[in-house]
Amino acid sequence: MRLAGKTAVVTGAARGIGRACAAAFAEEGADLVLVDIAADLLGVPYPLGSASQLAHTADLCRAHGVAVHTEVVDIRDMAAVRAVADAAEERFGRIDVLLNNAGIAAPAGRPVHETSEADWALMLDVNLSGAWRMTNAVAGRMSARRAGSVINVSSTAGLVGYRHFAGYVAAKHGLIGLTKAAALDYGPSRVRVNAICPGSVRDTPWVEGRMLAEIARALDVPVAEHESTFVLAQPMNALVEPEDVAAAALWLAADESARVTGSVVTVDGGFTVR
Ligand SMILES: NC(=O)c1ccc[n+]([C@@H]2O[C@H](COP(=O)([O-])OP(=O)(O)OC[C@H]3O[C@@H](n4cnc5c(N)ncnc54)[C@H](O)[C@@H]3O)[C@@H](O)[C@H]2O)c1
Repeated sequence: MRLAGKTAVVTGAARGIGRACAAAFAEEGADLVLVDIAADLLGVPYPLGSASQLAHTADLCRAHGVAVHTEVVDIRDMAAVRAVADAAEERFGRIDVLLNNAGIAAPAGRPVHETSEADWALMLDVNLSGAWRMTNAVAGRMSARRAGSVINVSSTAGLVGYRHFAGYVAAKHGLIGLTKAAALDYGPSRVRVNAICPGSVRDTPWVEGRMLAEIARALDVPVAEHESTFVLAQPMNALVEPEDVAAAALWLAADESARVTGSVVTVDGGFTVR
């Protein structure tokens, strides 16, 4: 029970990597605040997580005997984000872990000169500023208690470029910068801030993730072809599983990583080694 007695807030928890991380945290004893927009977002050309998917994640977590609170929130909304932090503290008395995982893969698939300013702004607003808002709302409280772990889910797109994905790449690189700067802000008060950079993660059925498929769609490539391209590009010749990312998140959330801050944990089967 590596997270017994702790409370974790997970954004983008309705499905995908967020669901896998929430379930792993629950299995290790954390009480949870699960956050998701649970609705589609104007400008994103594919369905986002739904209310029933968020409820399903909550049920999977409750099966481990932990307390779970769900919040339907768009992380672009500062007032709503603050209200989540208030609700979490009211329900559980403290927030020990913040996993900034919510993100979008599209609008994308175009070179910079064919991308609208609205599409660029949307990508940064969700994928970078959303994590900043959550950290803004939570880190001061962690700092006052002199404990906490903030984990930002970046991407290999936070380390290298991807053609026709400038908005996503810029946002994910920005998350690495936010991680390092916030690690310095909160180091003295023992609040740790780290990033995880997953490679291409399989859209495993039990978590209902769909980012790999949506990236393939944005690039106008069949999903199987996109998957095999990534498998061949990874020295370990396998896609990353949602559980691999959850294992890294669990380690960064738990006290075992007590001296780790400002780090970037790459979980990509070696994709960015060369
Ligand atoms: N899947 C991959 O291959 C991969 C690789 C590297 C990094 N990532 C990152 O991992 C994170 C999770 O991705 P995933 O594959 O699980 O995707 P996903 O689309 O399956 O899940 C993302 C979740 O975030 C939620 N969300 C999106 N916008 C939101 C908003 N404005 N407010 C609140 N919730 C919102 C969605 O509703 C959805 O439930 C993302 O940040 C993504 O960029 C994914």
